[in-house]
Amino acid sequence: MDKEFDSLPETIVLPKTGQTVIFDVYRPDKDFQDLYEIWWEVIDKGQSYLQYTTNEQEFQEVFVSKSCFVFRLMDNNKTIGAFHLKPSAPGRASHTGCYERIVHKDYRNIGLGGLMLDMIHKFAPLMGYEALIAYVFATNGASIASNLKKGLVQIGRIPRSSKLKNLDYVDTIIFHKTLITGDIN
Ligand SMILES: CC(C)(COP(=O)(O)OP(=O)(O)OC[C@H]1O[C@@H](n2cnc3c(N)ncnc32)[C@H](O)[C@@H]1OP(=O)(O)O)[C@@H](O)C(=O)NCCC(=O)NCCS
Repeated sequence: MDKEFDSLPETIVLPKTGQTVIFDVYRPDKDFQDLYEIWWEVIDKGQSYLQYTTNEQEFQEVFVSKSCFVFRLMDNNKTIGAFHLKPSAPGRASHTGCYERIVHKDYRNIGLGGLMLDMIHKFAPLMGYEALIAYVFATNGASIASNLKKGLVQIGRIPRSSKLKNLDYVDTIIFHKTLITGDIN
């Protein structure tokens, strides 16, 4: 494991519920099955990611293959959410990190998504990132709210970017934040 993750796993008490969660790097034997079920439900809903359908191989490739972090419930070790942080583009743009988050539907709105952003802010600089970027559908209230709360700035909007299930065409909002002190946002 890379040395910047030496502090993990770490236990955290969620202020809203008092539940204790374990924050850790993704470990396939502990996390794959629970996370795949969350991912499957999110893709099936069709309102926050681009895929029409999914399978385990795709999940492996797009979500957990690189720099993926998880939250597990302390009580039963169930994995209830995860995010990954990857370069938004290769080479000369790779100092900007792009993240994606998923939380189990039964554990939303209790602060995990915001906690993920706190962890992204903590680890991204240690991983060499100088800025963050996120692409969020304009209908995704929880994602927009949590990004704004953690200081991400809306820098753009792609009109009618995607045709979502039961929502038709929806814009994509582009959020950005520099991690370099003194930069513009
Ligand atoms: C987006 C997601 C990761 C957020 O995770 P979460 O754990 O629910 O986030 P949090 O509880 O930290 O914060 C959600 C905030 O949004 C608010 N919120 C929830 N639904 C909302 C809505 N429809 N409109 C406005 N605000 C909303 C909550 O009240 C909360 O605000 P608060 O912290 O002031 O109470 C989660 O909803 C999820 O996994 N969704 C499905 C996958 C997805 O959309 N991923 C992101 C793709 S861009």
